This record gives sequence, C-alpha cells and structure tokens, in this order.
Amino acid sequence: MKQQQYYIQINKEPKPFIKWVGGKRQLITYLQKKLWKNMNDYFEPFLGGGALFFNLSFNMKKINFNISDLNPELIRSYIVVRDQVEELIESLQNHSHHYKLNPKSYYYYVRKSKPKNDVDLASRLIFLNKTCFNGLYRVNSAGKFNVPLGKYSKPNIVNKENLLNVSNLLQTLNVSIKCNDFFDVYKKIQKNDFIYLDPPYYPLSSTSNFTSYTNNNFKLTDFYRLLDLSEKLHELGCKIMMTNSNTQFILDSFSASHWRILNVQTNRTINSNPKHRTHYSELIITNY
Ligand SMILES: C[S@@+](CC[C@H](N)C(=O)[O-])C[C@H]1O[C@@H](n2cnc3c(N)ncnc32)[C@H](O)[C@@H]1O
Repeated sequence: MKQQQYYIQINKEPKPFIKWVGGKRQLITYLQKKLWKNMNDYFEPFLGGGALFFNLSFNMKKINFNISDLNPELIRSYIVVRDQVEELIESLQNHSHHYKLNPKSYYYYVRKSKPKNDVDLASRLIFLNKTCFNGLYRVNSAGKFNVPLGKYSKPNIVNKENLLNVSNLLQTLNVSIKCNDFFDVYKKIQKNDFIYLDPPYYPLSSTSNFTSYTNNNFKLTDFYRLLDLSEKLHELGCKIMMTNSNTQFILDSFSASHWRILNVQTNRTINSNPKHRTHYSELIITNY
C-alpha cells in the first residue's frame, strides 16, 4: 500500500474519534473534580467514545490503562486507530470523496455494505457515525446498524489531526484494549486501582429502555451484576466512580453509607429530536 506523509503537528490532546450515545464530554469538568487522583491502575469497562479516558491519559502517561467495551466493532476500531491509522485515513478520504458526489445514495450503500477487513470496518463505523442522524450508534436485534442519514451540509468525515493524535497516544501509553463484559475487570483489578463505570443508564421512566448500544441489551439482571461488582470492588479497596441517571432506583441502590452521591445538571438531548434539549440531572457516585 502507498505510504503517505503527514505534515501535521501531533501530540496535541486527543479527543474521542467517535461520537457515542451517552458520551461524557459535557460532564468532564465534574468528573475531573471528583476523580481519585492517587490511583495505581485505571480501569474503564464501559468505554464507548472514551471521553474521560482521553481527557486523563494524555496527562497521566505513567499509569497502566485498562479500557474495554462489549461492542466488538468499537473495540476493533480502537485497535485499527492504534495500529493502522494511515490506511484508515486513506479509506475515510475515499468515503468523504464519494459522499460529496451523492450523500444519500452513498450513505445507504455503505450502510448496506459488509466490511472486508478491520480497516474497512473502522472506516465504515466512523463514516456512518459522522453522517448518520444525530450521530447515534444503534443496532437492531440482528446486530445491524439501522440509523437513517443525518442532515449535515459538511460533515467532518476525516479528522486527520485528531486520528493521528489518538493513534500516537494509544501507541505510547501502556494500555490494554479489550472486548469484554464489564465483570471481567474483577480478574485483574487490585486494591487502590481506580475504576470509572459509565454503564447504559437506568431508564428514566417505565416506558423507556436501557439504550441499545450492542445487540445484547443491557438488562435489569446486568444492572444487578453491576451492583454486585461495585460492592465487591469496594470491599477489595478499589476507588470507584460511576455515572447514572437521577432515578429513585439508583438512589436506593447506592444508599449504603460508603457511597457519596453528587447530583449534576447537564443539557442533553434525551429526545430523538435535537431541538428538544432539556436540562437533565445525572448522578456521580463515588466510594471516597
Ligand atoms: C454510556 S456508554 C459509555 C459512554 C462513554 N463513557 C463515553 O464517554 O463515550 C455505555 C457503554 O457500555 C457498553 N456496554 C453495554 N453493555 C456492556 C457490558 N455488559 N459490558 C461492557 N460494556 C457494555 C456499550 O457498548 C456502551 O459503549
């Protein structure tokens, strides 16, 4: 494959390369304030777009980072960004070129296509994420990406500078990137390690569901497994920070005296119509 030269200044703080449902960019200032600074290793088992991970890791390079998510496409894309960023950028430039010629037909053509290799897979995921309605990643019960085309006049499909910065960071950090269920952290985590838990939120009402990020929906039984894990990690001496919805169920679940709860206001789109932005209250729960 032809090698390209990139004359771009790298080493700037990287940002998430993908916009993820439930992404935490809006909460970063609060999360930083509540962070346990004196950590040994860092664990983030509901990685998504990794807003907190990118924010921290750039300034804390000496720590061992363990990041994971159950979504295989997402994790394979992180690995491609780390190991094959130049091929990825070329593939995204190709998508960008064809999209400009005929956005609608090209979007649905890519949505229907099956990736031939991991570079194709990552570039398809990023392309669809940048051009789909609301930037939402959502799959149906068959595991298919089924979001319609979004209304963008000039979507930034190839953010070359950020992809190079992310790739550079992932190569220089001591980071393990895995596709795992969240409970797997229990095999490795130790006393004084820090874990950030950002699961699919507990539904705000009985008519809404846990958001579907993977084709295995996060169910109430998963939430109980998460509670069990949180108590086990507390007993082990880990420092835990979790974000979740401000609901009576969550408040009751974390009512024991070792949990501290901070209520924060954000400005989220919880309706599928982006015009319906509303103040929304979320909880940051810690055991310190
Ligand atoms: C709220 S999002 C995380 C958002 C992330 N903090 C960010 O800043 O973009 C929740 C994530 O949990 C993942 N997930 C769902 N069920 C899971 C499970 N059983 N184990 C691990 N990850 C899971 C989803 O794929 C999704 O990426």
